[in-house]
Amino acid sequence: MGINLRGKHFLTLLDFTPQEIRYLLDLSKDFKAMKRSGTPHKYLEGKNIVLLFEKTSTRTRCSFEVAGMDLGMGVTYLDPGSSQMGKKESIADTARVLGRLYDGIEYRGYSQDLVKELADFAGVPVWNGLTDQFHPTQMLADLLTIEEKFGTLKGINFTYAGDARNNLGNSLMVACAKMGLNFTACSPKELFPADDLVAKAKKIAEETGATITLTDDVKKGTTGADVIYTDIWVSMGEPESVWETRIKLLKPYQVNSQMMANAKDTAIFMHCLPSFHDTKTTVGADIAKKFGITEMETTDEVFESKQSVVFDEAENRLHTIKAVIYATLK
Ligand code: CP
Ligand code: NVA
Repeated sequence: MGINLRGKHFLTLLDFTPQEIRYLLDLSKDFKAMKRSGTPHKYLEGKNIVLLFEKTSTRTRCSFEVAGMDLGMGVTYLDPGSSQMGKKESIADTARVLGRLYDGIEYRGYSQDLVKELADFAGVPVWNGLTDQFHPTQMLADLLTIEEKFGTLKGINFTYAGDARNNLGNSLMVACAKMGLNFTACSPKELFPADDLVAKAKKIAEETGATITLTDDVKKGTTGADVIYTDIWVSMGEPESVWETRIKLLKPYQVNSQMMANAKDTAIFMHCLPSFHDTKTTVGADIAKKFGITEMETTDEVFESKQSVVFDEAENRLHTIKAVIYATLK
């Protein structure tokens, strides 16, 4: 039977079968080829989408905007301060209003419950552009990038080093389980993903041939890896006060040349971005002043190395988000 995702929400990869994820990845490849060759693809002319951002963004916002415009749609962006949502209007009321005006709604914000509530009331597809729990559009870009580099997903040894219970750690564990990669969270025990999500991922892995490993041992967690992935140590929405403990906990898990040397010679380095690999940002400079470290989750050397595919990943956000919009609205 063919895959049909029309009208479906895109809130977490837990809601999608491996076949549906495969379909979205193949569609992304088609859109990438069309974009690269300059072939017009205004397949959704006459439709309109709205992008609601309660947290800041570069890649996700721009990918949704460019994808929408490439598909011929009208696009409205609402920043954290410029809508009534939450302050003067409930999520349910906002969803019912926007669902009357738009064909699809992107939401970036705090709890997964909020994006779920938006979806329950909108009457049109809702796409999760990042919550505290999950970042599913990032997963498609990451899977596409891995497949482009290795020609396969199944059996790839994937290590995530860092805060393994944040939105990226959670999402990558699920994405790997769904698509048959061997996922290792290499992280202090305090930052392992929640037990219930690990149990869900292990159950999925039983069917796909993936494995799920959690370890606080850096050597064990990174030896033989095909992919080493990391993310920032303190996520959007977390208080400034956690920096000190987070730096102490995660410094041993920094992706540096010694860690990369444990991985295979052919290994790649991945990061969803933005990254604190130097002090050329206000936050990076501030942390350097307060805590005396000039590089955080990755060294500048690894970030700038030939093994780093971070900008391929960033480009793939566009093609994969376009596939999600098209598949759910066509
Ligand atoms: N990776 C990612 O989601 O980037 P933005 O925060 O810039 O959207
Ligand atoms: N974990 C990060 C991801 C940013 C794309 C955050 O939530 O800030």
